[in-house]
Amino acid sequence: MDFQKIQEIKKNVCAQISLEKSTTEEEIEELITNAVFEYSKHTYLSIKEKQVLIENIFNAMCRLDILQPLLEDGTITEIMINGPHNIFIERDGRIEECNIVFDSTERLEDVIQSIVAKVNRTVNESSPVVDARLQDGSRVCAVLQPIALNGPILSIRKFAKKPLTIEDLINNDSLTEEAAKFLEKMVLAKYNILICGGTGSGKTTFLNTLSNFIPHDERIITIEDSAELQINIPNLVRLETREANSQGVGRVSIRQLIKTSLRMRPDRIIVGEVRGEEALDMLQAMNTGHEGSLSTGHANSTKDMLSRLETMVISSASFPLEAVRKQIASALDLIIHLGRLRDKTRRVLEITEVLNYRDGEIQLNPLFIFEEDQDNTSNEKVRGSLQPTKNRLLNKGKLEMAGLA
Ligand SMILES: Nc1ncnc2c1ncn2[C@@H]1O[C@H](COP(=O)(O)OP(=O)(O)OP(=O)(O)O)[C@@H](O)[C@H]1O
Ligand SMILES: [Mg+2]
Repeated sequence: MDFQKIQEIKKNVCAQISLEKSTTEEEIEELITNAVFEYSKHTYLSIKEKQVLIENIFNAMCRLDILQPLLEDGTITEIMINGPHNIFIERDGRIEECNIVFDSTERLEDVIQSIVAKVNRTVNESSPVVDARLQDGSRVCAVLQPIALNGPILSIRKFAKKPLTIEDLINNDSLTEEAAKFLEKMVLAKYNILICGGTGSGKTTFLNTLSNFIPHDERIITIEDSAELQINIPNLVRLETREANSQGVGRVSIRQLIKTSLRMRPDRIIVGEVRGEEALDMLQAMNTGHEGSLSTGHANSTKDMLSRLETMVISSASFPLEAVRKQIASALDLIIHLGRLRDKTRRVLEITEVLNYRDGEIQLNPLFIFEEDQDNTSNEKVRGSLQPTKNRLLNKGKLEMAGLA
């Protein structure tokens, strides 16, 4: 459908919208339908063309324009927009280029502004990076020019309408039933668990599935930069950070929210992701009796996660390294490492118990490790599974307390 046509009809509809009273979406749809029928009196349009035109104009005016069909397509998990004419999507773990484009850079910017405004955030030339979310919970990150050289850039991680369950993860070989049973016990017995992995390795999804093991009579507080967790618990408090306003005031950080949550009688605190100074507060909370905490962190291995945590803590307080390591060792019970393999599947690669601090190091006890089949040469599909190691869980105290040993 040509651009001129759409613009002409849009202008016509806009002219009819009264500024004095609010217009409902149904009324706008009716105005668009009338305008399209009017237009078709002098330019032939088939029924199908009319339908498409009405839908496109409605999406442009009331929804997220050309993104709307992509958002409604349940098979798409991620939408990546690198400027108005360069759009990619992810389907079944694979990225493909999409043949639809925005009319103009301005139109893409309008869409970004309308998304960001709905969650009370701002993005502009002086503050060109923003995290936000769509009303359905999909996570959004936008970066404008001049920071984004081929921008504006918009990345949308779509909210799963039906979140993956532990059975789904077992069925798609992300982990084994044995490991899932073990993790269920760990969550029930309130072991402190940190999930780590690279970008898009499935950390948030895994945290969601583990949260399904939490008993429903507990009070849970979730703390996130941009709320995306889907926790199915009746007594749930969801907290989200806020950026400073244009005068530089009003920022509410993860750190502050952890402190606040301690005064809200939590049974467990779930921090969506630790990436900065809040690591110290989280470890302190874990060490002061707030057990059963779950969180995620960006790292490429269990050891990498530990050294990142050290850096996060040291950057917020000048503790000696030894004290930091002791604190990490006594706070964390388990680290789960996730990864994306070369066939793009997301798997649990390691489940490791965190032991005590000894001889200058945090002692680790790997319990499950992903092992690839020896004869596996295919690049298409990786064969292998998460195998229990010879090691046994050493800190059984919490299991015994919970009557699960
Ligand atoms: N085990 C899995 N099997 C199949 N798909 C998965 C699995 N885990 C996650 N996904 C899908 O992968 C995408 C990324 O998942 P998720 O948001 O959990 O990753 P993440 O590690 O938290 O990413 P980020 O680092 O960006 O926060 C989502 O679309 C999710 O549905
Ligand atoms: Mg995540």
